[in-house]
Amino acid sequence: MPAPAPIKVALLGCGTVGTEVVRLLTDQAPDLTARVGAPVELAGIAVRKPNKHREVPAELLTTDVDALLESDVDVVVEVIGGIEPVRTWLLKALNAGKSVVTANKALLAEHSAELFEAADRSGADLYFEAAVAGAIPLLRPLRESLAGDRITRVMGIVNGTTNFILSGMDATGAGYGEALEEATRLGYAEADPTADVDGFDAASKAAILASLAFHSRVTAAEVHREGIASVSAADIAAAKGLGRTVKLLAICERVTQGGAESVSVRVHPAMIPRTHPLAGVHGAFNAVFVEADAAGEMMFYGKGAGGAPTASAVLGDLVAVARNRVQGGRGPRESAYAALPARPMGQTPTRYHISLDVADKPGVLSQVAAVFAEHDVSIAAVRQEGRVDDAGLVIVTHAATDAALRSTVDKIGGLPVVREVVSVMRVEGEET
Ligand code: NDP
Ligand code: HSE
Repeated sequence: MPAPAPIKVALLGCGTVGTEVVRLLTDQAPDLTARVGAPVELAGIAVRKPNKHREVPAELLTTDVDALLESDVDVVVEVIGGIEPVRTWLLKALNAGKSVVTANKALLAEHSAELFEAADRSGADLYFEAAVAGAIPLLRPLRESLAGDRITRVMGIVNGTTNFILSGMDATGAGYGEALEEATRLGYAEADPTADVDGFDAASKAAILASLAFHSRVTAAEVHREGIASVSAADIAAAKGLGRTVKLLAICERVTQGGAESVSVRVHPAMIPRTHPLAGVHGAFNAVFVEADAAGEMMFYGKGAGGAPTASAVLGDLVAVARNRVQGGRGPRESAYAALPARPMGQTPTRYHISLDVADKPGVLSQVAAVFAEHDVSIAAVRQEGRVDDAGLVIVTHAATDAALRSTVDKIGGLPVVREVVSVMRVEGEET
């Protein structure tokens, strides 16, 4: 038998993730050959500044991405990030029949449709396990293992930086600024933390999760997004007082109303019970809770970032596409047949926790309750704490549309008996 031809790989990017991809490819070469059925050979590594990359063989380094893509490589692994010029390069690779493995959530959340179309035209594979929740096998379970079930909800912590900050605030009582400083000092938050703390990173991941879970195209622009910068020490204290904690959640839900289905996809801070499985996810870890009709509830937990954990997911994809090349066949194509529309946030049912400083005198509670009734928002629980000359009033609602809840809070804030709206936060993970 002739030796099988090697699977030639072009690596685009050799930073935090790419360096670890090279290391795993090198260290595990014999095992990878056995698993794939042919050697997996690194044919070239594209970077911006070859001189700074002493850790990889100099003869593999190039700045000429187009030439590398035009060579006889079989697979392109992209770990550069961002939209352009990466989008153009990956379309070029897919159009030429080269399979693509990418960790690029920002690109997939905007352009997956055209990438999948290019892959379909040429019969190439497009895999992207590392794009959401780093090392955690999550996209393959959604795309393949649960393909026979009906997923109703995906809710998770998909951004490690914000989870590290919120965990710190919960543990120490620190404010947002102080917790962000600590995260930056320890290297968890980047110098420019905007993509993480403002929820852009999580929104891209939510778009990818919703697209796969609900067989529909959802882009980042359709994801309602709120970051954590406005979460205060008072919010965290209010949550603790009620046996809850605050997490930045990515929530993808199938909503059925009037016989019509839509998907609600949103990223925002929310209070969850301290007994909820996601409440025990601390620091930079990620976890995603999936609910499906037949399978019931499942939780996927692990490291959502970092060079080696992310490279593990990249290598898993690389083995899959390399096997497809050796054995014939393709991985799953895009599944967007359901074409469910994205539901506007205002029409999405949510629950609120509202903490107020009010005057402690007769009739206050009834005035506040009347505003809820006026907006058709049902109250689930009320707790009042008397103080010297005022009172703390905490109200938790049943599910109502987000628009109705916002109008309710706006009107309550204007009542003369309300001294301050101390904290307003959505509540998740409990019966409605
Ligand atoms: P880095 O910034 O560490 O590395 C980026 C690499 O891309 C560098 O090697 C850089 O070259 C190279 N590069 C940038 N622009 C070009 C260009 N125009 N031409 C050629 N090479 C270029 O990024 P990460 O490794 O952290 O992230 C890579 C991808 O993985 C991103 O999509 C990110 O979202 C995703 N990801 C990252 C995770 C993580 O924990 N870091 C987790 C999950 C996903 P040079 O080194 O010469 O500057
Ligand atoms: N910045 C991301 C995080 C990296 O904090 O989770 C992984 O995508």
